[in-house]
Amino acid sequence: MATKQRRILVTSALPYANGSIHLGHLVEYVQTDIWVRFQKTRGHDCTYVCADDAHGTPIMLKAMQDNVTPQELIDATGEEHRRDFADFHVQFDNYHTTHSEENRYFAELIYTRLRDAGHIAVRTIRQAFDDQAGMFLPDRFIRGTCPHCGLEDQYGDSCDNGHTYSPLELRDPISVISGRPPVEKESEHYFFKLGDFEDWLHGWIDSGEHVQPEIANKLKEWFKAGLQDWDISRDAPYWGFEIPDVKGKYFYVWLDAPIGYLASFRQYCDRQGLDFDAYWKPGSDAEVYHFIGKDIAYFHTLFWPAMLHGGGFRTPTAVYVHGFLTVNGTKMSKSRGTFINARTYLQYLHPDYLRYYYAAKLGPGVDDIDLNLDDFVARVNSDLVGKLVNIASRCAGFIGKNFSGELATAIDDPTIYQPFADAGESIAQAYETRDFGRAAREIMALADRANQYINERQPWVLIKQPEQTAQVQQVCSLGINMFRALITYLKPVIPATAELAEAFLNENAPLRWDSPAQPLLGHCIERFKPLLTRIESSNVERMVEASRESLQATPEPNSPLVADPINAQIGYEDFAKMDLRVALVSDAELVDGADKLLRITLDLGGETRNVFAGIKSAYDPAKLVGRHVVVVANLAPRKMRFGISEGMVLAAGPGGTDIFLLGVDQGATPGMRVK
Ligand code: MSP
Repeated sequence: MATKQRRILVTSALPYANGSIHLGHLVEYVQTDIWVRFQKTRGHDCTYVCADDAHGTPIMLKAMQDNVTPQELIDATGEEHRRDFADFHVQFDNYHTTHSEENRYFAELIYTRLRDAGHIAVRTIRQAFDDQAGMFLPDRFIRGTCPHCGLEDQYGDSCDNGHTYSPLELRDPISVISGRPPVEKESEHYFFKLGDFEDWLHGWIDSGEHVQPEIANKLKEWFKAGLQDWDISRDAPYWGFEIPDVKGKYFYVWLDAPIGYLASFRQYCDRQGLDFDAYWKPGSDAEVYHFIGKDIAYFHTLFWPAMLHGGGFRTPTAVYVHGFLTVNGTKMSKSRGTFINARTYLQYLHPDYLRYYYAAKLGPGVDDIDLNLDDFVARVNSDLVGKLVNIASRCAGFIGKNFSGELATAIDDPTIYQPFADAGESIAQAYETRDFGRAAREIMALADRANQYINERQPWVLIKQPEQTAQVQQVCSLGINMFRALITYLKPVIPATAELAEAFLNENAPLRWDSPAQPLLGHCIERFKPLLTRIESSNVERMVEASRESLQATPEPNSPLVADPINAQIGYEDFAKMDLRVALVSDAELVDGADKLLRITLDLGGETRNVFAGIKSAYDPAKLVGRHVVVVANLAPRKMRFGISEGMVLAAGPGGTDIFLLGVDQGATPGMRVK
């Protein structure tokens, strides 16, 4: 544990207020949230702020299209964004909007300071103008033929073949607003003289601390190409802040967007009674980090530090850039159903699955990350369910049933446990440097060791020998403590699962990074409830289908695949979807209050399942222990009155004592697939 408490302010880029949050955005918000949660778990004073980016032409036009005011549009989108983030457990300390009085104040302050210091130039430029709509056209609102390669129907700034040009060079241009050819018109514009800061920026970047090496290289290219003055004004009609003392001219959205970081933090300080200047005055010892995607690095590593420096504020400690998300190896695509909105995902899958998968793939660099949907299912099921949760589920039953939930008073074998406590520092270092992939690998390597220990000590065998009862408590208590250490380390990544684990561990305070140093001994844990169930591939398939169709109608979540399941025939493909496995009955017991059910604990070769089976009339539970049965392993977990059933044991017969479990050769091994 670091001894000195750091004061840290963290931001993610501000999502545009004219669209929904999708899985691409979430790479960033999940990455930042994990880093922030990690800092908080370490005991640092870390604040995470964000806001909606609510200005600009696209928002103005979308509002017109939807027949609402821009204010109504940004209010509604702001609400939607907040809900999506909250449901993904992205926990901002403050979430604001750039269309706020705090933001107007800072935008005007920075602009006037830059202007008064001579860093603003005024020039007349010629621009495309839609005389029917009565407005100047941003590059993206003009389409035409590329002047270099002749490709038709291209944007006003670049074509799909990678040529760049000015909209005035485009052949046969038309305005996407009116559909008419734009005319050229002159207008006076305001420019930020970025070149004034060239030397200062060189020093800032060469210090080697503020940007990743890949970005420093990119910056060298940009310097070489020359730093151009930046056009920071737009003509009316424009949805934004009017420039002080300049009627009819507005700040370009990208001027006030990063200032939104200051505005959101200001609102937070006002609410919490904190000293804003202590973070933002030059020379402050607080740390400030911006997490962004690679597409907006230019704004954040050139314009933004120069604006802050010229405006009399401190500059960021670092700007951390991440790569872009691809799905199944290619760009997210609406027609393939891989352009998946946050809300659509949540209708089918648990947020911790995606958070873990992203974490496992994220490193400190700017490489793109791929969400391969098959790998996603396999990885989450294997790591989170098969390895991590399994440690607790294998041990908890024995502690609950045989020792009234009480853990042993000493660690069975400290040489086994100690590495779990010691790993904290190395894992912390991985989180600190945003190498979440390494953190996940180290945690899963420990999970393998924990499972191996339990496999070797076989508490399900020991429990049958009365003289070994104390050993069972020792082994399972160590297992629970190993699980506790791993949950502590994964808490920033899977907060919802960690919260359930904390309830199960029944301590009087949330887990902290150094909790594993003090194992839980002689302590009563709660009854174990499944923390996270396996991903069903069918849910992923349905999510993709829903995204493919999202331009038409989003089907109800959990809608049945066949309309009439009783009369419908199933094809062989449906039958073949059943994952039949050999399982060893490691425990079986009567269920209080149930006439027909037995609660059966199954070992599927490293994974433990709790299953309820209606076979009480035919089988004595004690005689079932040690038998091999066949189980439908991919049946979705079902909530029953007595708990959750995580599979189905195959049996047939007319009923009563005539129910026959499907027999399996005693030589079969648990987990083996049955054909
Ligand atoms: N509004 C600007 C940011 C202003 S910050 C002062 C913006 N908004 S955005 O909604 O387009 O993107 C928000 C963040 O999400 C950006 O950092 C962007 O890089 C990131 N991503 C958007 N799509 C993404 C992927 N497909 N993959 C990874 N990150 C992506 O840019």
